[in-house]
Amino acid sequence: MYYSDDILDQVRSANDIVDVIGQDVKLKRAGSSYVGLCPFHNEKTPSFSVSRQKQMYYCFGCHRGGNVITYIEEYNNMGFLEAVQYLAERAGITLPQSSISPEEKKSMSERTQLLEVNRLAGTYYYYSLRSAAGKSGMEYLRSRGLTDETMKAFALGYAPKTPSDGLYRYMKSKGVSDDLLRRSGLMNVDLKRGTMYDKFWNRVIFPILDTSNKIIGFGGRVMGDAKPKYLNSPETKIFDKSRNLYALNLARRTREDYLILCEGYMDVISMHQAGFTNAVASLGTSLTPGHCALLARYTKKVVLSYDSDSAGVAAAMRAIPMLRRAQITPRILRLDPYKDPDEMIQALGHDAVKERLEKAQNALMFEIEITKRDYDLSDPEAKTRFFESVAARIAALETEMERQNYIDAVCREYLVDRKQLQELVTRRLVAGPASHSGDAYESGHGATSGEEEPSLDPAYDPAALYGYDEGGFYEDEATGEMYQAPPSASRKNRAATVREQGDDISRKLLLNYICRYPSVFETVKKYVQPADFGGGLLTRAAEEIYAQMERFGRVEEASVLSHFTETQDQAQIAGIFHTLDQAASGKDREKAVRETLLKVFTASDAGSRTDLQQMIQRKKLETELRSVKLNL
Ligand code: CTP
Ligand code: MN
Repeated sequence: MYYSDDILDQVRSANDIVDVIGQDVKLKRAGSSYVGLCPFHNEKTPSFSVSRQKQMYYCFGCHRGGNVITYIEEYNNMGFLEAVQYLAERAGITLPQSSISPEEKKSMSERTQLLEVNRLAGTYYYYSLRSAAGKSGMEYLRSRGLTDETMKAFALGYAPKTPSDGLYRYMKSKGVSDDLLRRSGLMNVDLKRGTMYDKFWNRVIFPILDTSNKIIGFGGRVMGDAKPKYLNSPETKIFDKSRNLYALNLARRTREDYLILCEGYMDVISMHQAGFTNAVASLGTSLTPGHCALLARYTKKVVLSYDSDSAGVAAAMRAIPMLRRAQITPRILRLDPYKDPDEMIQALGHDAVKERLEKAQNALMFEIEITKRDYDLSDPEAKTRFFESVAARIAALETEMERQNYIDAVCREYLVDRKQLQELVTRRLVAGPASHSGDAYESGHGATSGEEEPSLDPAYDPAALYGYDEGGFYEDEATGEMYQAPPSASRKNRAATVREQGDDISRKLLLNYICRYPSVFETVKKYVQPADFGGGLLTRAAEEIYAQMERFGRVEEASVLSHFTETQDQAQIAGIFHTLDQAASGKDREKAVRETLLKVFTASDAGSRTDLQQMIQRKKLETELRSVKLNL
């Protein structure tokens, strides 16, 4: 641990969790806490709760949870130290420098080091563009209609022609090691000679920032027609192209309720310059479920503004079902006769583009229009097959109202008889979902990821351990806080019951009862000790809870979490504080708590005691426990 508990507590309490999360997630009051749509998995009904009282968040659907530091780590994809620094800065707290020893500094995450290298490189490119050596870069960007203000907002830069190893030398002057430079992706390495030279040379530079405004990579464009037109940083520890979107750091602050998704850097920049500051782009890669999950954190509506050429259309056809799977409603911006949004803006200006955005085409009508190209409508048979595919798409819609609206729209657009189309749709519906699911949304567009929920971090997915719960939770009458019921052994076929041993369920409940009813602690500790909690994570949690009880007579849940560095562990501990047997809240709570205590007590008895004297003693304690009075 790099910072003392005192400092961590100070940083935590200066950042109220409801305020911090409220900046990213729309929260609604529910009881004494808040709920919203979980930013860590896709859902339509809220199961993400944030408690001011506990200073914790917990998703009853995907079981991620933790305190405000965990949240920043998870949401911004930061390491622990970085998250603490971020929150300290947010609250205006200066962290003591001395708390980071040189060794600790060295072992600071590779991520932090790479970010620092990128920051230096960004500075170098930025000033190069604005120096004499950057004249041609500046002329190029001006020729593309960019103002100084825009160049600044996007931190555009230039990698000079001479010296050709300018960045390398600059990095050396800053003491950056060759090894780190190699891993930064900013250098090309000549394996034969073992030398390195700048990857970007004589190009204008587009720094790529993540949502916390850190430079994670670069794109560089030649200033003429040479190839390759764009050169991008390779993927590194900090640059995952499939999980980042260009300009999302700016677009996330938009007041519009939709985001515009473009293909290129210049498209985004032109859009922003024209006042459409809600434009983003995927980074020279096609859209992934990771991008969609990221978009879904900010909006439910996306206007696709891909190039109007056949590659752009094909990309849009792939993107549409993927966006839908992330619960996003896509629409399509008409660009013709222009090639891309940049060209359109230059030609039409703000107002005309605004109008086109407002009229952006419904994605289903777009799909129908594009599929039509595959059928020769002068051939009656092909025509029938075309309308059957249209009917399949319409039948796949969720509500009757939607289906009727689309039948109307298609009839208007394609001049078909309403009755005939209605009949085709009805036939599809009667045939059942199995027969149309295959060729409606997913058909032929190379959808690979199936129905799987896009998860932000597949390596760490508590939902994989526990299963998604559709947010089964309830408001506890006594406190107004949200809780989930403990998994019961009788609920079959649930991943949770398979994984979670009954003993652990009782142990978790007991820990929560101690925090909730501090008065029971004096009795509890006579019968069970931290070691009786299974020896693993729960024992570590128990140690901390017992220690806080001894010292303060009460437990501060959020600070228990600070003793665990892994977000997985924190999610588990957060789960403890959000699981309550309803019986333990009502009038039978003494009985419920006693039974749980008894279960934990007997569970730790598991056959290891051979000493007769000890066994008699245990038996006596057990009998006593069965009728012990708990001061509730
Ligand atoms: N791209 C890339 N590498 C290339 C070509 C393109 O990474 N060799 C990516 C870039 O992110 C680019 C996007 O694909 O912004 C779209 O490419 P394209 O339409 O060719 O470029 P434009 O964005 O139109 O760029 P410009 O207007 O500068 O020509
Ligand atoms: Mn272009």
